[in-house]
Parts: sequence; structure tokens; C-alpha cells
Amino acid sequence: MGRLSSAQARAIDELGRAYMLMADRPFDAVSVFGRDAPLMLEIGFGSGTSLIAFAEANKHFNCLGMEVFQPSIANVLKAIHAKSLENVRIMDCDARSAVQQAFGPQSLSEIHIYFPDPWPKKRHHKRRLVNSEFVAELATRLCPDGVLRLATDDADYAKSMLAVCEAEARFENADGRGHFAPDTGTRPSTRFEQRGQALGNRIFDLVFMRIGA
Ligand SMILES: C[S@@+](CC[C@H](N)C(=O)[O-])C[C@H]1O[C@@H](n2cnc3c(N)ncnc32)[C@H](O)[C@@H]1O
Repeated sequence: MGRLSSAQARAIDELGRAYMLMADRPFDAVSVFGRDAPLMLEIGFGSGTSLIAFAEANKHFNCLGMEVFQPSIANVLKAIHAKSLENVRIMDCDARSAVQQAFGPQSLSEIHIYFPDPWPKKRHHKRRLVNSEFVAELATRLCPDGVLRLATDDADYAKSMLAVCEAEARFENADGRGHFAPDTGTRPSTRFEQRGQALGNRIFDLVFMRIGA
């Protein structure tokens, strides 16, 4: 999806062999990374700022990014290659179906979704990625004490995320019921975050812990 420049098409062709995985089959950490390690999944990584920063700062994690927009995938493949990052792989897929296909129950340690498309019009809210059904699916894929991290600059979507995650019995709000997470400055600012800030929007972070067995 998305128009690729010839350089981007070449990146997918040449670097995809090393760094891209098929999402329609179970993910096997040992055959992909040569090790079993905590697994972080970022959904909709866009320009890849967060994914790359997390992978660089957390070498003890295996990291996966899911994205549907091919020009972004191509650019992030180039960044992974330029930085010789061994602990990141990319899946070109719709996360709504791929999460279930790729990951067994309780196989993920962290899931990050930063600035998902807000779909601000009420009649489009049903298209929002963070909804009850998907959040329940994510909860089954996280291991006990696993973490779901979300951020948005859309106040209405933020309230909806909070309600949906707090309604999921397998999640507990790390910052207390009804609270957004404080800005700790640990998450790098993404392209869409900067766009929201330029519009004067407040940034909302949410952190939920996977509870129960
Ligand atoms: C608003 S952008 C945010 C990008 C980035 N996280 C940031 O903060 O700059 C949302 C991204 O999610 C991707 N996306 C939307 N739906 C998706 C899905 N179902 N599966 C995977 N990626 C998706 C889009 O292609 C887009 O790159």
C-alpha cells in the first residue's frame, strides 16, 4: 500500500529479505533472532522513530514492527540496515488480523501503539484500531506483567482508549483508574506527535499492565 519511489522499492527488495517477516504464520523468535528474549511489538510505527529508538536502547529485547504503509516500511528498513540493528524485524501487515496469526498467547512482553489514526468523525470511530475487540486480543497476547503503551493527541480517542482498556479485565491502569500516564520523557517524540503539538494538542499517554495468569 502507498506509492513507492524506486529507491524505496529497491530497499524492500534488497533489505526485506534480511529484515522482513511474513505475518501469516506463527512467529518463532529462535529461528528469527537466534535467541529467546522479551518481545516488543510496535503497531503502526510510521517513520519508525520509536521502534528504532527502543531497539537501540533495549538490545536485550527482540523487536517487531507492524505497518501497512510501504513507503514507511522501506524507510525504516534503510534505517535498520544503516544502524546494523540485529534485534528488529518488520511485518508488512494489517495488525488487526496479524497479531492473532503471528503470536501465541502470552508471547509478548510489550505492545506499543503511538498516535494511531484518530478517525475524528463520529461516523468513523468504528475504524479506530484501539477498540474493545482488539484490546482484548492484545491482552491475550501479552504475558503476565506485560505492558501496553498507547499515546494519542486526540482527546476524544484518549478518553475512549482509557475506557476500553479499563473495561478489559486483564488490564490494570499503571497510573491508577481514570488517569493518564505522566510525561516521563522516556518515549521519543514521533512525527505525528510533533504534528499534534504544532496544532496545540495535548499529548495523552496510557500505560496498562497485563494482570492475572
Ligand atoms: C497516524 S500514523 C502514526 C505513525 C507513528 N506511530 C507516529 O507516531 O508518528 C498511524 C500509522 O499506523 C499505520 N496503521 C494504520 N492501521 C494499521 C494497521 N491496521 N496495522 C498496521 N499499521 C497500521 C498507518 O499506516 C500509519 O503509519
